[in-house]
Amino acid sequence: MVRIFVVYDTKYGNTKLVAGKIVEGINEIGGLETTISDVKEVDLERLADYDAILIGAPAHFGAPTRTITKFIDKLGKLDLKAKWTAVFDTYLKEDFEKAVKKMEIRINEKVPKIKQIVPGLSIKVNGMKGPIAEGELPECIDFGMKIATQLKI
Ligand SMILES: Cc1cc2nc3c(=O)[nH]c(=O)nc-3n(C[C@H](O)[C@H](O)[C@H](O)COP(=O)(O)O)c2cc1C
Repeated sequence: MVRIFVVYDTKYGNTKLVAGKIVEGINEIGGLETTISDVKEVDLERLADYDAILIGAPAHFGAPTRTITKFIDKLGKLDLKAKWTAVFDTYLKEDFEKAVKKMEIRINEKVPKIKQIVPGLSIKVNGMKGPIAEGELPECIDFGMKIATQLKI
């Protein structure tokens, strides 16, 4: 069975909620195994056997959080079976550079053997602490469904 690891960072809980909705979308397609974890609790040793690693972060100063950036760097040092990745972020202001772009670039640099399944997903929040803007949560479910469909081919 295809195994997917979903890791997120969060300060106020919004990116965790997005990660949960993505898993919901994956599970709607069915037949794939998912594990979800806060980046602060990830046991790196356990990552070796997953087929795909999805990575999410809130935008902080126009970039993913430092914790997620460091996590990506650590992935580059592991002997991973995973071939696939996809990234997601939450953001407040449209005019900032997207954190997803920076995550994608960093993954390409540090973990070149894992490729993007789908382009990154950016989810808008309506205040520093949220909530997630209207209409955005269904996008997260769709994103999960798309990923699951791609991985099952
Ligand atoms: C220190 C800090 C810096 C932030 N910088 C940005 C930013 O550059 N661009 C942006 O759109 N939102 C920025 N935000 C808003 C966050 O994106 C928002 O708090 C986050 O999406 C909420 O996600 P969370 O609940 O998972 O922490 C910043 C928030 C914090 C706390």
